[in-house]
Amino acid sequence: MLNVLIVSEEAQELCSLFRLSGFAPDGADLQQKDLTAGGVPAVQSRYDIAFLDIDNEGWRERLLDLRQQMPVIAFSHPSIKAAIDAMKLGASDYLEKPLTSEALGEVISRYKKKVLTQKYGFDEIIGTSAVIQAVYGLIKRAAVSESNVLITGESGTGKELLARAIHRWSPRSERAFMTINCGAIPDTLLESELFGFEKGSFTGANYTKKGLLDQADGGTVFFDEIGDVSPLFQIKVLRVLQEGEIMRIGGARQIKVDVRIIAATNIDLKAACQKGLFREDLFYRLNVINIHVPPLRERMEDVPLLVGQFIKKHAVKRKDMVIKGISSEALGILMRNSFPGNIRELENIIEHAISFTGSPEILPSDLPSYMFEARVSTRAPIPRMRDAVIAFEKELIASALKNSGGNISRAATSLGIYRQQLQRKIKDLGIAI
Ligand SMILES: Nc1ncnc2c1ncn2[C@@H]1O[C@H](COP(=O)(O)OP(=O)(O)OP(=O)(O)O)[C@@H](O)[C@H]1O
Ligand SMILES: [Mg+2]
Repeated sequence: MLNVLIVSEEAQELCSLFRLSGFAPDGADLQQKDLTAGGVPAVQSRYDIAFLDIDNEGWRERLLDLRQQMPVIAFSHPSIKAAIDAMKLGASDYLEKPLTSEALGEVISRYKKKVLTQKYGFDEIIGTSAVIQAVYGLIKRAAVSESNVLITGESGTGKELLARAIHRWSPRSERAFMTINCGAIPDTLLESELFGFEKGSFTGANYTKKGLLDQADGGTVFFDEIGDVSPLFQIKVLRVLQEGEIMRIGGARQIKVDVRIIAATNIDLKAACQKGLFREDLFYRLNVINIHVPPLRERMEDVPLLVGQFIKKHAVKRKDMVIKGISSEALGILMRNSFPGNIRELENIIEHAISFTGSPEILPSDLPSYMFEARVSTRAPIPRMRDAVIAFEKELIASALKNSGGNISRAATSLGIYRQQLQRKIKDLGIAI
């Protein structure tokens, strides 16, 4: 059951309509602040979805506040302008008054799935560990701001997934999300790819082509692997960030583009700046909000949840058998690994295990052999110095005693120590004679 918040001067009357339609609503008027986690985005709201009356004064502030925590459905007397205003400010949907049971049922069922999956993670970004919860908080904050975002983290930690989530939760979500795989664009194609070209600008240009930035107008551009780009690329991107304008090859005028930039890298860009490999001015323009994604080994408590998710995702590929889960032994082996390839590695392991397992449960034998090597090395740690010395002494004394036929004085002489000294050692080390 979803918890519905209705924010309207007519909240009381509307509550009964919601109740009749089978929902559990709470009403508030626009002045009431304490009903939600309003103004304190870090606090999890107890509501799943809000309905906001935009015929009432003060709805804008309330919308900005609420949309950070839940989908907000705006409603008003029929007005296209009001609907556009609300959607521009980040409302997820719009309904006309008078509200009806059918309209409510329809809109709520549309959001139900989204809201329920979000309770266990941010869209498909799974995890309940404290470190990933902190990342969710940053995603929400980044989503509602217009600032550029730099996502850093090791390979396979989910940087692209985060970039998409930020876009999806931003007011730009209805517009394009364009990924630019920076490493894949050679300098010779850079301008035509990013900015496009005008018909006739060079041999073979027999049509006008929009560039990637132009296509993303109003939306989000994701520069993936930004750490790998050439100096020329850096200058071109910097200019777009500074001026908000592009010029097509062969074009006669600047074209305004309105894009929000999210960039990602697995290298240390600050260090690259110090070495002179990356422009510092570009770094600061990109790094307005920094989101660092922790490696999987720092949040191993998320592994069982992720494994469950990946089993669900890939089990459908087996037509001959229903794969239900993973044995606790196999999960234990996964938990003892450090996953240098992060979540991508874990997903590959599960996908592979599902394809080859002969049982409805993933077993240790379905896991790749290197998983076990990691286990052996953690099971047999290098002995500590003191333990090694004790073991050596024990062995030496036992063998001297054996040679002397159990005679302590002779054994002591052969070891080059006094009889009393040997007696104490035999007692301390618990050697049987
Ligand atoms: N928190 C998560 N929950 C579920 N799946 C995840 C999560 N994070 C990453 N994944 C999955 O792991 C894989 C790798 O994620 P992604 O491509 O976003 O990583 P990346 O950081 O961009 O890696 P690279 O630097 O190698 O490009 C994807 O299949 C993605 O769906
Ligand atoms: Mg990536």
